[in-house]
Amino acid sequence: MRARVAILGIFVADLAFEAPRLPQLGETLLGQGFRMGPGGKGSNQAVAAAKAGANAALITRLGADAFGEIALGIWGEAGVDTAHVVRDSARPTGAAFIFVSTRDGNNAIIVEAGAAGDLTAADLDAAREAITKAAVFVTQLEQPIDAARRGLALAREAGVATVLNPAPAAELDDALLTLCDYVTPNESEAAALTGLPVGSVEEARVAADRLLARGARAAVLTLGERGALYHDGRISDLVPAFAVGPVRDTTGAGDAFTGAFATALGEGRAPLEAVRFACAAGSLSVTRPGAAAAMPTRAEIDALLAEN
Ligand code: RIB
Repeated sequence: MRARVAILGIFVADLAFEAPRLPQLGETLLGQGFRMGPGGKGSNQAVAAAKAGANAALITRLGADAFGEIALGIWGEAGVDTAHVVRDSARPTGAAFIFVSTRDGNNAIIVEAGAAGDLTAADLDAAREAITKAAVFVTQLEQPIDAARRGLALAREAGVATVLNPAPAAELDDALLTLCDYVTPNESEAAALTGLPVGSVEEARVAADRLLARGARAAVLTLGERGALYHDGRISDLVPAFAVGPVRDTTGAGDAFTGAFATALGEGRAPLEAVRFACAAGSLSVTRPGAAAAMPTRAEIDALLAEN
């Protein structure tokens, strides 16, 4: 049986420019590559979960335009359940400017949520059945926080495991963190949420403790090429990343991780085992260009885990 995962989040068209560095204000820089492709953290995570083997249902809003058609195409290919996608003819689908460094594959992003910026708590109430029947509910912070809060509350009430990927970084109250079984920030998001430095693994552990003190039941800090730290107050382990090949583009690596993590949890794996599964997905995704387009299949993840 495939794990049921419900995901609230946004889709945007990613406009990705490759260059050796970001331009300064007032400067024009010649690019070294351009791609347009499917992005948005919620959509990326739904695609990652579906490709990793979950029955993934996405809750979102989409404009009635060409970018919206790209979304429907990628969801159709990946097998994402779109029963809770609302088409909105009043607002366009969003877009993201993505800078990808030709030096090391790292990225910098500006995202505009577009139609998905109108998601409200009522959209979550309308999708209540998909949430309460899921094994895991996942959200991020690209749509309004009230919508995220409602989804997390509905899931918690129904005993569904909750995962918050707190990206982009935002100020969160403790009541919201208390609704989270797992929070999955990267280093900069963990630093922003806790006000603590997150350079070393030891610092990451202190920040994770702080997230627990603020209400989260477990923290999973993604630490780039070092892997991910799982910390729940009882277990605190660093799961290393997998050396798969040269890093091409890190865009969406956190989404590959979170989507795969939710899938493995939904299958009943122990959290540390789910983190290992998620690290494999994240490590594979950075070897390919794009966000949703770079998500690995279940067969690829299983093969990498079997080799290691
Ligand atoms: O996490 C990567 C994603 O963040 C990109 O696809 C971009 O759309 C932004 O939402």
